[in-house]
Amino acid sequence: MAAPTPAPSAVKSGLEGVVAAQTKLSMVDGQNGVLIVAGYPIEEFAGRVSIEEAAMLLWTGRLPDKEEAPLLQKELAGYRALRPETLEIVKTARNAPPIDALRMACATLSLDVSNPNDISPAGDLALAKRLLSRFPTVIAAHSRLRQGLDPIAPRSDLSLAANFLYMTFGTEPDPMAAKALETYWVTVADHGMNASTFTARVIASTRSDMVSAVTGAVGALKGPLHGGAPGPVLDMLVDIKTADRAEAWLRKELGEGRRIMGFGHRVYKVRDPRAEVLAKTAEQMAGAHLQNAKLYELARAVEKTALRVLEDLKPGRNLKTNVEFYTALVLQSIGLQPDQFVAMFACGRAAGWCAHVMEQHAQDRLIRPASEYTGPMGLTLDR
Ligand code: COA
Repeated sequence: MAAPTPAPSAVKSGLEGVVAAQTKLSMVDGQNGVLIVAGYPIEEFAGRVSIEEAAMLLWTGRLPDKEEAPLLQKELAGYRALRPETLEIVKTARNAPPIDALRMACATLSLDVSNPNDISPAGDLALAKRLLSRFPTVIAAHSRLRQGLDPIAPRSDLSLAANFLYMTFGTEPDPMAAKALETYWVTVADHGMNASTFTARVIASTRSDMVSAVTGAVGALKGPLHGGAPGPVLDMLVDIKTADRAEAWLRKELGEGRRIMGFGHRVYKVRDPRAEVLAKTAEQMAGAHLQNAKLYELARAVEKTALRVLEDLKPGRNLKTNVEFYTALVLQSIGLQPDQFVAMFACGRAAGWCAHVMEQHAQDRLIRPASEYTGPMGLTLDR
């Protein structure tokens, strides 16, 4: 059978510009560099609310008030400890990258609920609280186990971010570092229909459960075009070493067809507003430690050069600084390793993923797009 004359392709490559859902969770305005999270501009929000409060806003549509906030923190702190089965998996995966250990452990985080397939609002909320509270415990345990150390049990008197630092380093957490981490988590808590959120929504749209959807989202996040960029950003800065070497380094990378990590965005055609928030956090951390100050100065210089070189070699593509560039500096300044950065991203984004799963379950409409077939037709078996 002859193939029909191909119609003009209706494929939207990379689904660019396709509106796949209505959401009350966040709005990304890429032309004006605006991010609204559940009504709040990101600059209003990040650094002023805890990740627990931000999560509750996303999950319920309302920020806890002054009386509710400490009760919420206490309740969520009660979920931080891992079951032995989960710890066993983290131990087995101790030589795997942290994001892979997190993906494996994530799949077990419904073991202590009687019905993990309960996708009612109450069932989803119960699992969301566990996922948000336990992700940092998984990553801290992984960090200890791969150094041959025992994991440290969580404390309930600390914020989620401060407790993560305590469990990772085994010392009283530096309040400034805890604040920086919390600001980072809130900054990345939700961001429109990004690839991992879309993944979570596709899974949830089949009426599958919260933990399955979030496990899939972790897998989508880890790629270098999404959440995996900040590790390579730090590698780039280390490789460049001094500001005077930046231009030649960047031109060589681009000349060899590679991308500059921390620049460019599918939606933002101007500077990512989250980069603005995190640049300030990185600057504060730089003020506290000489080592951080040197890296911060280098990053500012590399950013300036990269924007100029990208405009020169990729004119009209509007490749501006994205969230991952300063993420690298913030996470490095609190003592984390580059291969942990994407797992840190998952800790903050877990708030948004869970909220989208809840929204998708409420909308209850299977996501099932079409495809354009380009293969042969009517083949016959010659046997
Ligand atoms: N460095 C160099 N060139 C880049 C680039 C970057 N960081 N980002 C995009 N480009 C170029 C592409 O090579 C392409 O060039 P061409 O027109 O000559 O073919 C053009 O810009 C458009 O790229 P495209 O792949 O269509 O853009 P996209 O919307 O799919 O890409 C990203 C968005 C984020 C995947 C992309 O900008 C990227 O890879 N950035 C680096 C990774 C990163 O920082 N990721 C974190 C995102 S928050």
